[in-house]
Amino acid sequence: MAAVEPFYLLYREIGRSCSFYVEALAIVGAWYTIRKCISLGFNTYRALRLHLIPKLVGEIDLVKQYGKWAVVTGSTDGIGKAYAEELAKRGVNIILISRSKEKLEAVSRSIAETYKVETDFVVADFSKGREPYPAIKEALKDRDIGILVNNVGVFYHYPDYFTNLSEDMLWDMVNVNIVSANMMIRFVLPGMAEKKKGAIVNVSSGSSCQPTPMFTVYGASKAYLDYLSRALHYEYASKGIFIQSLTPFFIATKMAVCSSIISKRSFFVPSAEEYASHAVSTLGLSTRTTGYWKHAIKFALAEHLPEWIWAWFALYFLRTVRKKVLTCKMK
Ligand SMILES: NC(=O)c1ccc[n+]([C@@H]2O[C@H](COP(=O)([O-])OP(=O)(O)OC[C@H]3O[C@@H](n4cnc5c(N)ncnc54)[C@H](OP(=O)(O)O)[C@@H]3O)[C@@H](O)[C@H]2O)c1
Repeated sequence: MAAVEPFYLLYREIGRSCSFYVEALAIVGAWYTIRKCISLGFNTYRALRLHLIPKLVGEIDLVKQYGKWAVVTGSTDGIGKAYAEELAKRGVNIILISRSKEKLEAVSRSIAETYKVETDFVVADFSKGREPYPAIKEALKDRDIGILVNNVGVFYHYPDYFTNLSEDMLWDMVNVNIVSANMMIRFVLPGMAEKKKGAIVNVSSGSSCQPTPMFTVYGASKAYLDYLSRALHYEYASKGIFIQSLTPFFIATKMAVCSSIISKRSFFVPSAEEYASHAVSTLGLSTRTTGYWKHAIKFALAEHLPEWIWAWFALYFLRTVRKKVLTCKMK
């Protein structure tokens, strides 16, 4: 009997302290679950508000909200052209900027005839350093620019290692992807701030959500645009300017022709027109978005992956794409 007593007491003590730990763990578990549920509910609401409600409720009057004219850089093909058409469909006059005069004339005429809006264009090659900007500045002078879409961008011919990139490519990445956005914003923002309205969309890329090997310089240039947009938002939102970082993943355009896997339309790879129709409806609603609900799923997953998993997967996938392109070239 004497031996049982201390054992019973010990057992009771252990039971008591365990129940304290079990209760503490239950509280931590409940706190974690509640936090996750609230964040899931909040994210679902945000996704619906961004990608579904604008489609159901109808379009906002972009001319009234921002102004009569929109400038779109890199607007004779792909996303830029589709975005310009989508804005014109909503009654906004368009100024197109690209390199090829023939393509600019054709797109400008087609938009004016189809959507009954005014159009204009500027021939400019953003890879030429300071050279294109005086003409652009002159063309934008005295115009009620309500929306600027910094869409122009250059991409690799195929994913590659840093040391294989030519010096020209390195300069183009800076001049076309970064400098053009800085200069275009510099031209239109003072006028917008004076009117206390306007929208600036900087086309970044989903590839900048984490460091992406084989797209290093491109990804870095797109991360610059993302950072620029988010920081500018804090400077100018109070002055009535809406600044958006648009971070799409692959879209079936000429730019993505480096791989047959990504150049064709599929569930996650929309056409430029489908993408632009979604992206324009997020204008005024989200300062940082992929612009397309299927890409939003990818972005949420990609952003939460540990960096090394993202980088390992990117390296594996993009090396495969590179190998495939080089094999095709050799044939
Ligand atoms: N496609 C994708 O999967 C994807 C994904 C994420 C982000 N993005 C970004 O989206 C933007 C548009 O891509 P996209 O796929 O639509 O490209 P795209 O189909 O290749 O079209 C590029 C446009 O830019 C113009 N352009 C090219 N170089 C130029 C230069 N040096 N100066 C002036 N204009 C120039 C081209 O017209 P001209 O040849 O007449 O000059 C064309 O209108 C880029 O910033 C890209 O980084 C694309």
